[in-house]
Amino acid sequence: MSYDDQNQPYSNDPYAYQDPSQYDTSQQPQEYTGYESQDAYQGQNYDNSQYQAPPPPEQRQTQAPQQLTRIQSGIPGFDQIVGGGLIRDRVYLLAGPAGAGKTIFSSQFIYNGLTKYGENGVYVVLEETPQQLRENLFNSFNWNIGSYEDSGNLVILDAISSRLGLSSQERFVVPRPFTLEALLYEIQTAIQTAGARRVVIDSLDAMSLELTQVDLRSLIQRLTMILKSFGCTTLLVSGQADTTNQGRKAVEEYVVDGMIRLHHSLEESTSGETTLEQNALQGNSLEEDSFSMKMRSRKIEVPKMRGTTHSNFLHPFIIGENGIEVKAEPEVTKRLRRAIFKAKNVD
Ligand SMILES: Nc1ncnc2c1ncn2[C@@H]1O[C@H](COP(=O)(O)OP(=O)(O)OP(=O)(O)O)[C@@H](O)[C@H]1O
Ligand SMILES: [Mg+2]
Repeated sequence: MSYDDQNQPYSNDPYAYQDPSQYDTSQQPQEYTGYESQDAYQGQNYDNSQYQAPPPPEQRQTQAPQQLTRIQSGIPGFDQIVGGGLIRDRVYLLAGPAGAGKTIFSSQFIYNGLTKYGENGVYVVLEETPQQLRENLFNSFNWNIGSYEDSGNLVILDAISSRLGLSSQERFVVPRPFTLEALLYEIQTAIQTAGARRVVIDSLDAMSLELTQVDLRSLIQRLTMILKSFGCTTLLVSGQADTTNQGRKAVEEYVVDGMIRLHHSLEESTSGETTLEQNALQGNSLEEDSFSMKMRSRKIEVPKMRGTTHSNFLHPFIIGENGIEVKAEPEVTKRLRRAIFKAKNVD
């Protein structure tokens, strides 16, 4: 399903994407409290008087394929490795272990949308409080996301407090008791309120606790349908390893349109390694002069991306003072580095 900025919404589906400027805001409370009655979750307020039955199958026509539109993440080096940008309206899984940079990557995607591309955002926090997110981003990168919340361009939805049974002072909060229906409802409200085109759910792991694989698959499918119908390009954050402990792929990997995977590990640094080899080549005693420096090395890969060509290499990235920067050239292996080093010294 693809949305073309120039065209009108293409169906009668009540969840179909509408131009955010066309939303009927007269129905919304002046000051949003985050609380809605349970009735709303059951869809009992839904007015289907305007519903038109679809034509019989023999009169339906095959939709002509539309040109896919792309959006820029604005993360240096990243758009190049996914063929020029993420395909609009699609849902992507951003996976990686703790500390890999998932929250920074997601925040940069949202922050660039706000600051460079005029796209509003929703950030759903399930693992840290909105205030922690604001403080971390301000302290690490000087990104003041609070100012975009104040201007109405960004909604940070607090889904952690009710999940932990705590109260919250946030403007946008999932009410207690935490249920998945309430979460889905509040996500939709947040998207409409912000007129969001970029969404992050951080993270699926917190949302899927105690769910069976079947329930999780259906939850992610529902979430995906909702996000696409609102015309949102979404990152679903997951801390899952490559496969579940039963050796199967995690269900979310099948449901999403694309996957971005972050890795990090301790590695001997290039300078340490070349110094080591230089010493050996110069005949110095390895015991006396050799040393190795270990440092955290970060890499990103794109294992799956429907509808586009993409890099199949592992790419190094750094987290610097302006956030993540991906090296668009592939990771050079140690063996290749050694070969280059030796070739230089033979010349
Ligand atoms: N300004 C900075 N400069 C360099 N590295 C930084 C900076 N700020 C944070 N980091 C690194 O980024 C890491 C955290 O990244 P992030 O919070 O995005 O990880 P995550 O994948 O979301 O982890 P988790 O699964 O625990 O939520 C920190 O542990 C730190 O190593
Ligand atoms: Mg995180």
